[in-house]
Amino acid sequence: MPKHFLDIDAFNKDSLESMLQQAKAMKSARHNLPKGTPDPLTPLRGKALAMIFERPSTRTRVSFEIGMRQLGGEVMMLSASEMQLGRSETIADTARVMSRYVDAIMIRAADHATLTELAAHATVPVINGLTNKTHPCQIMADVLTLEEHKGPLAQQKVAWIGDCNNVAASWIHAVGILGGELVLGCPPELGLSEPQLTWIKARNANIHHVTSPQEAIRGADCVITDAWVSMHNVDSENRHNLLSPYQINSKLMALAKPDAIFMHCLPAHRGEEVTDEIMDGAQSAVFDEAENRVHAQKAVLLHCLS
Ligand code: CP
Ligand code: NVA
Repeated sequence: MPKHFLDIDAFNKDSLESMLQQAKAMKSARHNLPKGTPDPLTPLRGKALAMIFERPSTRTRVSFEIGMRQLGGEVMMLSASEMQLGRSETIADTARVMSRYVDAIMIRAADHATLTELAAHATVPVINGLTNKTHPCQIMADVLTLEEHKGPLAQQKVAWIGDCNNVAASWIHAVGILGGELVLGCPPELGLSEPQLTWIKARNANIHHVTSPQEAIRGADCVITDAWVSMHNVDSENRHNLLSPYQINSKLMALAKPDAIFMHCLPAHRGEEVTDEIMDGAQSAVFDEAENRVHAQKAVLLHCLS
C-alpha cells in the first residue's frame, strides 16, 4: 500500500508531530541558503513527482515544485484539462499509467472523490493538494507557523471565522488529533456538518461552533479566515450578506489576545473577509504561513517517498 497523504485524519498524533519536527529541522538547515539551491542532503534524488491541477494555484504549485527540487527530485506540472482525463480517460486508468512514470502524484481535485479514486488505483503515493472537502498540506504549514509564533498547538485557542469550508475541515482534523481549542465562528448556514460533529464528539475534541464572530474570537491566540467564495462555491449576494459580519478588521481582531496572530491560507480578498490593515498589520503571519508550505510539504514528500 503506497504511503498516501490524503487527509490529516488518516494520521495519528505521533506521525503528524514527527512530520512537523522534520519540517522545522529542514527549514533551519536551509537558513541563508538561496531558494533555488538544493538542501545539504538531497534524499529524493532520482525521484519524480507529477502534479495534476483541476483548479488554479499559485502557492501549492510553486511550493511543491521548489520543495521537491530542494530535496533533489524532479517535478512536472500537469493541467487536467490538457490531459486525456479531460477527454474522458478514467481516473483509474490515469492512476495506473502515471504510476508507471513517476514516484508520486499530487492532485488538486475539484471533487474529493477524484482524489480517493486516484489513490485507490495508484501504486505510488498520492498527495491531496486541495479538494472541495479538505486542504491538509495547508494545515501542516499552518500548524508549523502557529507553533513557530506561539508554541505548541495543544496550548492555543484558535478562532476560525467565516465559512466552515475545506480549509476549516482540515483544521478540525488537526486540532482533533494534535489538541488545542478550535472555535468556529460561522453563520448557522455555513457551520459544521453532521459527520464533522460526529467525528468531533467521537474524539472528545475541544472544537465547537458559535454564530457570533465576537464570541469566537475573544481571547484567541490565533485568528484565521478564508475566502467567502471558495473555488467550488457558486458566488452569490446571499453568501456575501451572510458572511459580511465575519470580516476580520481591527475592531474584531481587538477582541483576540493582544499578541494573537492572524493567518489566512491565501489568496485573500482584501476588503471582503479581511481588511488591508489586518493583512499588512503587525499581527499578520500570512507570508510566513505561505513560506511554510515549502517546509511542511517537504516533510510530507519525505513521509510519502521514503
Ligand atoms: N493556499 C493555497 O493553496 O493557495 P493556492 O491556491 O495558490 O495554491
Ligand atoms: N477555500 C479556498 C482555499 C484556496 C486555497 C478554496 O477552496 O478556494
